[in-house]
Amino acid sequence: MTVYFIGAGPGDPELITLKGQRLIRSCPVILYAGSLVPRAVLEGHLAERVIDTAPLHLEQIVGHLLEAHRRGQDVARVHSGDPSLYGAIGEQIEHLRAAGIPYEIVPGVTATSACAALLGVELTLPDVAQSLILTRYGQNRSMPEGERLADLARHRTTLAIHLGVSHLKRIVEELIPHYGADCPAAVVHRASWPDQDWVTGTLATLPALSEAKGFRRTALILVGPVLAAEAFGRSSLYSADHRHLYRGGDES
Ligand SMILES: C[S@@+](CC[C@H](N)C(=O)[O-])C[C@H]1O[C@@H](n2cnc3c(N)ncnc32)[C@H](O)[C@@H]1O
Repeated sequence: MTVYFIGAGPGDPELITLKGQRLIRSCPVILYAGSLVPRAVLEGHLAERVIDTAPLHLEQIVGHLLEAHRRGQDVARVHSGDPSLYGAIGEQIEHLRAAGIPYEIVPGVTATSACAALLGVELTLPDVAQSLILTRYGQNRSMPEGERLADLARHRTTLAIHLGVSHLKRIVEELIPHYGADCPAAVVHRASWPDQDWVTGTLATLPALSEAKGFRRTALILVGPVLAAEAFGRSSLYSADHRHLYRGGDES
């Protein structure tokens, strides 16, 4: 018996991996985070028990996992996006380890990837930004030392801020001293869902644009010059004079 933590992807049921889909269709027990995982992701399942964990607390969820273990039944534990990012799987894994229950994590397409796809941009452009910081908005005291927004903003690289859209005004105030008021920024709401929507602008204009759309939750804030860069370096990967193992026979 194994508990499979499966990444469902950002919303579009076609953005789950083949492995995740196969496991959902073969596990006799499914627990899914119904607030962010669409029911369509479960299509084709043959499970005898399907439980939406949105209204459950940790002990109740763990109770279902232990029960499945007693019955010798595999569990598909379905989380949104990639389970390793803000998925709260760490605390479930802690209980599984304590009980000696095997588990496996099946990665998924994270919201940041879906948002970049929707905007049609590369988040790592040569000479503009070569790093991407995935973070969440938290009140200062709930963030580990050195991870307050102002600390991260000092790098001035691309930022993807989760769980922050309802604090957008405060976020922008913290970022402007580092990125400048005219830094490109976007809010993407429910990327890959049928009602997906987004706004693009600058740090100065973003709060009003987002407010006008009424974005309150399930939205990602993206910040950085990559979002509107017109000048950037060329990647050596596709440069005609760059020889590598797959082109030109040079193994260097
Ligand atoms: C609890 S976190 C889960 C993240 C998820 N594990 C992932 O890898 O995308 C939920 C937050 O992720 C972001 N998010 C998740 N799905 C999204 C989507 N389809 N479009 C935009 N943002 C999304 C929002 O900031 C939302 O509040």
